[in-house]
Amino acid sequence: MIVTIDGPAGSGKSTAAKGLADRLGFEFLDTGAMYRCVAWAVIEKQVDPTDETAVVRVSQQIQITFSDAHVLVNDKEVTGLIRTPEVTEVASVVAQYPGVREELVRLQRDAASGIDIVSEGRDQGTVVFPDAFCKFFLVADPQERARRRHEELQAEGKDVTVDEILEQIYQRDQRDEQRDVAPLKAADDALEINTSILTIDEVLDQLEQTVRERI
Ligand code: C5P
Repeated sequence: MIVTIDGPAGSGKSTAAKGLADRLGFEFLDTGAMYRCVAWAVIEKQVDPTDETAVVRVSQQIQITFSDAHVLVNDKEVTGLIRTPEVTEVASVVAQYPGVREELVRLQRDAASGIDIVSEGRDQGTVVFPDAFCKFFLVADPQERARRRHEELQAEGKDVTVDEILEQIYQRDQRDEQRDVAPLKAADDALEINTSILTIDEVLDQLEQTVRERI
């Protein structure tokens, strides 16, 4: 059984997908982390992110491994390294390239083969798992998304203003929504949930109830 959760940056989908997987006893797949791994390797190898051919080659050469809460690229632990603002920015650039997406979509389908999984990203319900038995699309007001991200960054001791974050979120959404391949959008059969005014437990209750009604 495959459950997909898509949505823009900061809509709360990672927390929701992890929590739902826990409640259902399903595996959890963070596909954004895969694009981040490619971005990290591109930066590490000093490849120009706008050089599509070189970036696609990097995506084909690296080995991405998820082990419990850890992410490895060619056996190097990158769990924290793929969360920097630089990697975040480059991830949404490399995610525009069809060759990179082809490679990662293949890995995502392999990862989900034969298991029950909650898979989270931008194109999980539309492109990667169009036959998923339950699809969600999470949205939240930009101000609220920026406020949440600001809170997270402050907790990590990073000094960025809400307005700067709002601008970054806007840029990233634009790139994700307007790219030619697998743009960010809700699948026709996805249930849309606005998380702005809900607590995480309320979001999880709604997701879990919807899935259980369909099992
Ligand atoms: O979800 P996260 O913020 O970690 O994703 C990082 C970037 O990876 C996104 O901005 C998006 O450009 C890209 N992405 C994607 N397709 C996915 C998951 C993430 O294009 N399924």
